[in-house]
Formats: sequence, C-alpha cells, structure tokens
Amino acid sequence: MSDDETPIFAAARQANEVLHGDAPALPRPAEPRIITIANQKGGVGKTTSTVNLASALALRGLGVLVIDMDPQGNASTALGVDHREGTPSSYELLMWEYAVEDLIQKSPHADHLFCIPATIDLAGSEIELVGLDYRERRLAEVLNKDDLASLGIDYVFIDCPPSLGLLTVNAMVAASEVLIPIQCEYYALEGVGQLLRNVELIQQHLNPDLAISTIMLTMYDGRTKLAEQVAGEVRRHFGDRVLKTVIPRSVKVSEAPGFGMTILQYDAGSRGALAYLDAAKELNTRSGLSFGNEAEPHESTTMPEDMVAPSSAGNEDNHVEDDR
Ligand SMILES: Nc1ncnc2c1ncn2[C@@H]1O[C@H](COP(=O)(O)OP(=O)(O)OP(=O)(O)O)[C@@H](O)[C@H]1O
Ligand SMILES: [Mg+2]
Repeated sequence: MSDDETPIFAAARQANEVLHGDAPALPRPAEPRIITIANQKGGVGKTTSTVNLASALALRGLGVLVIDMDPQGNASTALGVDHREGTPSSYELLMWEYAVEDLIQKSPHADHLFCIPATIDLAGSEIELVGLDYRERRLAEVLNKDDLASLGIDYVFIDCPPSLGLLTVNAMVAASEVLIPIQCEYYALEGVGQLLRNVELIQQHLNPDLAISTIMLTMYDGRTKLAEQVAGEVRRHFGDRVLKTVIPRSVKVSEAPGFGMTILQYDAGSRGALAYLDAAKELNTRSGLSFGNEAEPHESTTMPEDMVAPSSAGNEDNHVEDDR
C-alpha cells in the first residue's frame, strides 16, 4: 500500500489486480509442495482454506492442483468442476485405475487452477482400502513430484474428510507438509492432540518427510475475547508455524461455495478474500523454511487434550452479529 492510499482503496486495487491477472506473479517454490489440509474435527475450515488458498496462489500465477479426498466433494463444488457420480475422480486415483494427468480437471476460476474431484464413489473407499495392498500408500505411489513439476504444478493441496481414517492417512503419506486449520471457537483444540500423535506415527512408520508446517487460524471474530484468547493459546503452543494472517469470520466466505465459487471470485475485495490472498502469499514465502520433523507443538511436549477456550472468555461478547 502506498502512503497516499486508504486501506479500502488499497484493498480494491489489490482485488482488481488479482482478478485481472495484473498482480505480480509469486515466486515458484523450488519443487512442488504437497500439502495436506487435515483436522478430524468437522467444520473448522479445511475445505474453505483449501480452495481459497489454491485459488489465491493460482491467481498469482502459480500452478495449483487440489485433490479432493472428502466424499462430500465440497472442494470440487467450490472449484466449479464436475463431480457427478461416474466422473473419474480421486477414487479412481486411489484404485490406480487412472493416472493424475488423466483425472485433472481445469477449474473455470483461474488459468492455473486444477482439481481432481471427489465423487460419491469415495464414500465406500475407507472400507475398500483396508483389503488392498499398500493401503496407506495408494496416493503416495501415484503422486510424484517430478511428474507434477512437468505438469506445471507448484502446489498440491489435499482436502481431507473430518476423520483420521485411511483417506486422511493416504493424504499424509503422500504429502510433505500438513496444514492444520484451527477454528477460533470453543473446543478449538479438541482432538488436536490425537491429530499430532497420528502425524507422529505416520512420520515414524510411513513418511519420515512429513512435517506440520502450517497452522491456520480460521473464522476469527476480532470482536470477541474468545477468538483472541484461542488465537493466543494456539500461538503459544505452535509458535511460528502459525500463519500471521488470520482468516476472519465472514458471511461472504460461507456464501461463496453456494455459487460454485471461492471467495476470490465471489467478492475479491472482501476482507475474507484479502485475508486468503495474504495467507497464500505468506505460505509461499515459507517455501524455503525448514520446519523440522517433530510433530510436537512448539513449546510444550503435550497438547492439553481437548482444550477449550479459557474460562474467562467472556460469553457476553460472543453473540455479535456476523461480519460480512
Ligand atoms: N472464514 C469463514 N467465515 C464464515 N464462515 C466460514 C468461514 N470459513 C468457513 N466457513 C463456513 O463454515 C462451514 C465449515 O467450513 P468448511 O466446510 O471449510 O470446514 P471443513 O473443515 O472442511 O468441514 P468438514 O469437516 O465437514 O469437511 C462452511 O459452511 C463454511 O462455509
Ligand atoms: Mg471439508
């Protein structure tokens, strides 16, 4: 933002530049980054973060592939790609029936944005996988960084279902990074201890290269003490793995998928869109950083299991109107 710009003007200019492809391209990572978005807690913003980060990076000139590993298919919907029953999808990828390049669909939202959709076929695959060879490595075996690079892909985001079952395990074995979205609400860290232990098990037995690189605070309502306290608690535990950019709670972010869009197409100048653009930029800047392999949080060795927000969180502040 230049000195003579008001914040609103700067936001409008940035949105305009991004949508018209005038925003400067972001530097490409040295090799494709494969990032799994996981949290077995439902509704914390996994899919929203996946599609919006993907869209933001693609609009800034990077090649991005989203692999939808959730039978709900919400990421496929938001990216505007076909995922009706019978469409070749992530199910066929796991079954080794098609290769990545045969399954990729181009999203209408950006030139460099691609998706392997999820169809309802994926719903039975948790059970089907149990009886297959390499059941935890089905995805890893067919996701190869050299092949991805030759397809012009810089980022792969794998959107996981809200469980720690075999679909999520496959996503973690195939990735080098895990991004955990944490909702700034009560019970924010519910189950995060279990998630960290699972990541650790996967590091020990299946994928030593996996690191929890990024924690993302979502649905932050700055007008509540609760959100501030949850964010503070998460930052104390995870230190600089937590993105500085926080995603605000905003009705527009939640409306966008209903129109088959991400927030960047739905309202590029909104606070939610600008936050995802900033988060994407920050994520890309961290390309060269090393996060180590340990799954334990930053400062303490154990996670306060199922921690809820501090008791003084001030309920009276929490019933405020949503911010569009
Ligand atoms: N920043 C936000 N502001 C307001 N609503 C949001 C925001 N982010 C996500 N939502 C809404 O919250 C709900 C849950 O988000 P989302 O589907 O991304 O979570 P999820 O973790 O993928 O859920 P699931 O576990 O079911 O896969 C959705 O209705 C979504 O539109
Ligand atoms: Mg989801």
